[in-house]
Amino acid sequence: MELQLTPVASLTADQVRDALLAATAAPSLYNSQPWRFRCTPDAIELHADFSRALPAADPDDRELMLACGAALLNLRLMVRVAGVRPDVRLLPDHNRRGLLATVRPAGPHPATPVDRVLAAAIHRRRTNRRPFLPTPVSPVLRSRLRQAAEAERGWLAVLERPQLAPLQALVRSAHEAQRADPAFVAEWRQWTGRDADSREGVPAHTSGPLPEPQDEWVLRDYSGGTAPTRVVGKDFEPEPLICVLGSFRDSTFAQLQAGLAMQRVLLTATDAGLAASFLSQLVEVPQARKELRSLIGGGLWPQAVLRIGYGSPVPASPRRSLADVVICDAAAERSW
Ligand SMILES: Cc1cc2nc3c(=O)[nH]c(=O)nc-3n(C[C@H](O)[C@H](O)[C@H](O)COP(=O)(O)O)c2cc1C
Repeated sequence: MELQLTPVASLTADQVRDALLAATAAPSLYNSQPWRFRCTPDAIELHADFSRALPAADPDDRELMLACGAALLNLRLMVRVAGVRPDVRLLPDHNRRGLLATVRPAGPHPATPVDRVLAAAIHRRRTNRRPFLPTPVSPVLRSRLRQAAEAERGWLAVLERPQLAPLQALVRSAHEAQRADPAFVAEWRQWTGRDADSREGVPAHTSGPLPEPQDEWVLRDYSGGTAPTRVVGKDFEPEPLICVLGSFRDSTFAQLQAGLAMQRVLLTATDAGLAASFLSQLVEVPQARKELRSLIGGGLWPQAVLRIGYGSPVPASPRRSLADVVICDAAAERSW
């Protein structure tokens, strides 16, 4: 069913549609898309959809907030490239727990070249679970990625070579802890290995090659056991670039902000021709997160762990339609 959109302040209905499509292109754990949007005559509201929470992997809804923060960054960028200043408020009403942000178009404002470059990367960004080339990411690009996180009040810790071995051990123990948890395994099975046309969950064909016991970096199988077998000589890079996106606090507000920072890093990487995937075991298993926090110095709360490098193209994962996630009638369902 085609959704009828109406203008929001100075944004035309087409600009609203582009902004919402960009927002829903954000990454989310298991492609759960835990967001909803309400368009009123003067604002676009972003709401958490707690019915799509993942209680086994993400019992505190921390990753849900990261995904919504990423959607908000895309939305904000699209308003800017429409030549309009977005007035963004995070958690604007403590009586409405699910209302995460309002974006009010607030008068004309020219987009910057960086806004344009990042907005152009939104629909090209993908999670790439396949092996990357061994080509190193240059110091200049590493510092661009760090600046991207800092521009959104986040921090990107780029791991040094001596930190990789302890991190690898942590990935393995976190992975094993999750595999031993029947609730985690049931949830993971439910959301992965989906058909190519499934509009939610992880489609099997976006998985990497089937993990083998020695692959300590990429352990999760997203294919429901159907992933292509590994090609000899096309192994996972021996020394991946691993970055930990951290925040200075661990509140809901900080997690939303971390989502903005994470997405800005991912879009900056996409623009630079880099691919990225996630190693979320490390932040989902409490003991692993604690040890990771100490590994990166003890001052930051680890929010997302990214593996970044040069990859080959991968297919996009489908999204639900706007009709499933957007409501335009300001009077409807105030309980959101
Ligand atoms: C907070 C968060 C955690 C994620 N963790 C993982 C992960 O551990 N492993 C993985 O392969 N993908 C992970 N993803 C990526 C999602 O599976 C991916 O965004 C989703 O399937 C949609 O695909 P796309 O990113 O290519 O658009 C994560 C995404 C987010 C936002």
